[in-house]
Amino acid sequence: MLWACQSQPQPEVSDNYREPHRPQIHFSPPSHWMNDPNGMVYYEGEYHLFYQHYPDSTVWGPMHWGHAVSTDMIHWEHLPIALYPDEHGYIFSGSAVIDWNNSSGLGENGKPPMVAIFTFHDPEGAKAGTNTYQTQGIAYSNDKGRSWTMYEGNPVLGNPGLRDFRDPKVSWHEPSQRWVMILAVGDHMALYNSPDLKNWTHLSDFGQGVGAHGGVWECPDLFALEVEGTSQKKWVMLASINPGGPNGGSATQYFVGEFDGQTFTREWPADPKDSVWVDYGKDNYAGVTWSDIPPEDGRRLFLGWMGNWQYAQVVPTEKWRSAMTLPRVLSLHPLGEKGYVLRSEVVAEARKLRTNEQSLPAQGLTTPLQLQSSSPPLELFLSIQLPPAEALAEVTLSNAQGEQMVIGYDGNTQHFFVDRTQSGDASFSEDFAGRHIGPRYTSSDTLSLHLFVDVASVEVFADDGSSVMTEICFPSVPYDQIQVHAQGGKLLEGKLWQLKSIWHEE
Ligand code: FRU
Repeated sequence: MLWACQSQPQPEVSDNYREPHRPQIHFSPPSHWMNDPNGMVYYEGEYHLFYQHYPDSTVWGPMHWGHAVSTDMIHWEHLPIALYPDEHGYIFSGSAVIDWNNSSGLGENGKPPMVAIFTFHDPEGAKAGTNTYQTQGIAYSNDKGRSWTMYEGNPVLGNPGLRDFRDPKVSWHEPSQRWVMILAVGDHMALYNSPDLKNWTHLSDFGQGVGAHGGVWECPDLFALEVEGTSQKKWVMLASINPGGPNGGSATQYFVGEFDGQTFTREWPADPKDSVWVDYGKDNYAGVTWSDIPPEDGRRLFLGWMGNWQYAQVVPTEKWRSAMTLPRVLSLHPLGEKGYVLRSEVVAEARKLRTNEQSLPAQGLTTPLQLQSSSPPLELFLSIQLPPAEALAEVTLSNAQGEQMVIGYDGNTQHFFVDRTQSGDASFSEDFAGRHIGPRYTSSDTLSLHLFVDVASVEVFADDGSSVMTEICFPSVPYDQIQVHAQGGKLLEGKLWQLKSIWHEE
């Protein structure tokens, strides 16, 4: 069965998502350019995914909102473009909500409207060197996101003279009975509220002099999460920055604290000079969470753009450019006196892609373990007992061309790493090849590594998702060999699955 492309107006799907490097378990657009996920909202059984899209080229350009829906966040149906540039400008990133009480008055027939809140980017104003070319607008749909109307009173939030003024993420704040908007404004986030999604009042700012500032702040999010194992809730703020990520280029940092409906107060990282990251790999940017997940589900569901502005526009794909990460559940865990860690785990819905399960018997790993595998997509779970002194554990994905992705944990430096130095084509950018690292948050001698390997990416969730690294790769032929090695270490438990393509049944 073909899951994609049924209602795209000009379906360019002759090769059915089988091109070289085409992700098989990740969302990618049928053709042309994609960046940030936008407007993620759940309504009447459907997860909506809008995305920054330029339908005329495989590089960034006048931004539209592409659109797809899913009943499981795994299999996607492409829908026609939702939002087109208009007299106010290109349609930059933003969010969508269900206006349950029809506070905006934009609903029809007693049903709540779906309202998108986004940034207009006026290219003329930008070219002319003004400071006011980014404003916020809204659009609404009364047919489950299938057709959209621009609000006639746009923009709903004018620009006070701030060059970077974008990417509104809106949610309903129950205690104050107001919509709260978090907006990225250059080197900080600004908070606003509104009774009706049309009239916005500035509340407070957060971020100057706090966290990483190697680049401009973008694509914020702000939500409450229960601290696992307690009945306490904390607020988590996501702040994507570009450049200035821990391994170069684009990445998403986070802060944990309190939000009282007016002001966000940071508690973690405790030292304002520190920064902590949702994902330490180079290819998870501009990620935010779904709105309106029903309380009986209760998950905080996240999706990021699997790209990095350093090289996203020159990666070696011709028909389309880029993909999203797998959807993930975020959870907040205490770290003793050290604070908190935000964990990510792939949604349980992805388990239905599993096939050909292989259990790997417990065994020593001093002699490298060669797994019987076919090509990606696949999922690998390993629980490894590290040797006390020399703790090095590595998983090597390779092909007969000698190309390889090496993923592992280095006990000498206490870092996880993904090494894509020899992963295949890296000729398109000097920022691509390299060995990238992320921290470990436990000193346990047992390590869990959970890997999702697609045709052109690896997502690593270590220690139950406490340490995450997402990296793309472009091998000339698929990796078809997997080796696990840990000098003096032991495999306690392991599982390998072949995964079914989300685009084909075969
Ligand atoms: C982040 C970003 C956003 C902006 C959009 C434009 O990747 O730069 O800040 O809204 O992309 O496409």
